[in-house]
Amino acid sequence: MKHVLKMLDLSPEEITQILDLADQLKYEKKHGIAHPYLIGKSIGLIFQKASTRTRVSFETGMNQLGGQALFLSARDLQIGRGEPVQDTARVLSRYLDAIMIRTFDQKEVEDLAEYGTIPVINGLTDFSHPCQVLADLMTIRERFGSLKGVKMAYLGDGDNMANSLIVGGLKTGMVVSVATPDEYKPDPIVLDFASEYDTFTWTNDPYEAVKDADVVITDTWASMGVEAEKEVRQIAFAPYQVNDELMKVAKPEAMVLHCLPAYREQEITEKVFEEHADEIFEEAENRLHAQKAVMVLLMKD
Ligand code: CP
Ligand code: NVA
Repeated sequence: MKHVLKMLDLSPEEITQILDLADQLKYEKKHGIAHPYLIGKSIGLIFQKASTRTRVSFETGMNQLGGQALFLSARDLQIGRGEPVQDTARVLSRYLDAIMIRTFDQKEVEDLAEYGTIPVINGLTDFSHPCQVLADLMTIRERFGSLKGVKMAYLGDGDNMANSLIVGGLKTGMVVSVATPDEYKPDPIVLDFASEYDTFTWTNDPYEAVKDADVVITDTWASMGVEAEKEVRQIAFAPYQVNDELMKVAKPEAMVLHCLPAYREQEITEKVFEEHADEIFEEAENRLHAQKAVMVLLMKD
């Protein structure tokens, strides 16, 4: 494993290796056992979009591992003034030991990895959000003990979260059911990948997707970059809201996850959110542990 650019690149064994190490690091953290695996190492965190969880969990995670994290706002980097990503990659490779980047275009992340000589971690693009999905899989596995055969239902926008959950879920043996409006389907590359699995279904009927689900997951209806479409999207996505009616068809003990930030009374009701807040905030915490595992596996000598 050289980089974490998208879930499509990770083998099932690599995903399991990350989740196992994440569990170990979480245990050690809870029991006050220090794990300074990355003393003297530096990671640059490039942000082209806003962030609360990704920024803070990478910064504190690196600190807990004994290394240093540099927050690099794309607005202040020369990349924001048109310096080619190829040059940025070659320069940063001479100062840093890894780069995390949050941006729009998946190609920018792939280019950084291609032209640089250090590991690159995708902290969210329009196409994928692998760090979030590793934390989600960790959270689901903690609850059920295993991912095999656990049914995940994803509702709403066929966005970066949908793309990554589909791939991560199928690769780890989950049953994945996705409901989106016809015009907001997941990426064709992901649907093509998923078509190889008889454990995958796409539908435009939210009730069909959620039926007997063990885990129900949703995301904002207007991701970063498409906020201008908010009003049109609110109409298109209204039937996909995670609410009491919909939860009645899931398994009675079903979990609800949300990568956050969550918009109440839009993709999820306040009531369902608060009933599942412990799960959702455990999921947010697991970003820290999963990303620490990724950094250790990519950066440790
Ligand atoms: N879920 C997530 O990636 O959160 P941030 O946008 O706050 O980093
Ligand atoms: N789909 C959302 C996820 C935010 C963490 C977005 O891209 O804005």
